[in-house]
Amino acid sequence: MAADAMNEERFVLRNARHLAADYMIRTLREGDIAIDATMGNGHDTQFLCGLVGACGHVYAFDVQQSAIDNTHARLEAADMSERATLILDGHQNMANHVKETVRAVMFNLGWLPGAAHAVTTKVETTLQAVNAAAQLLVPGGVMTICVYPGHEEGSRELAALLEWAGALNVRTYNVLHHHFICAAPGTPRLILVQKNL
Ligand SMILES: C[S@@+](CC[C@H](N)C(=O)[O-])C[C@H]1O[C@@H](n2cnc3c(N)ncnc32)[C@H](O)[C@@H]1O
Repeated sequence: MAADAMNEERFVLRNARHLAADYMIRTLREGDIAIDATMGNGHDTQFLCGLVGACGHVYAFDVQQSAIDNTHARLEAADMSERATLILDGHQNMANHVKETVRAVMFNLGWLPGAAHAVTTKVETTLQAVNAAAQLLVPGGVMTICVYPGHEEGSRELAALLEWAGALNVRTYNVLHHHFICAAPGTPRLILVQKNL
């Protein structure tokens, strides 16, 4: 084993968001193009900008102006604002804005912690968005979808996403569903979709 790999932190099983981040670290390299489909306060956008580096680019979507403002401020403070395009539009319209293929797409569904619960992702638009994202992936590209079945719309999203993902063509996509089984019923899930090489 290479010395670098031996010096990496040991694996800790935490939650769906951390698993999604681990997959992004394994997937993205400097110069890659990625999408943050649910920008929120920009934590994930900044994380992706760090992974794709100064030569890469991140397209980030949200329907709330406050998400754009907060993410812009976060990226400015990190000197990364050049690496991202912040788009005030629903992720279901991503193909109107992203005219190139991408290496990774990250969805962190639900509502913004601390903000109005009414502005949550919704099953119909979420399905449109994951379909659009699947089309944009390069071979080997990865989509992570964190789903929160602990609330009503999240529970509908989970059911619809599992049906959607289970029906993908196995010759084109490989799909994994992380389900924490020693946990409360509403514990977040991770669905991972990779376009085959
Ligand atoms: C759980 S938060 C995302 C957290 C974010 N990734 C972060 O790092 O702070 C979900 C976000 O999805 C946004 N959202 C809801 N419907 C959307 C849609 N149709 N398209 C894009 N974003 C949407 C909400 O406004 C909210 O900011």
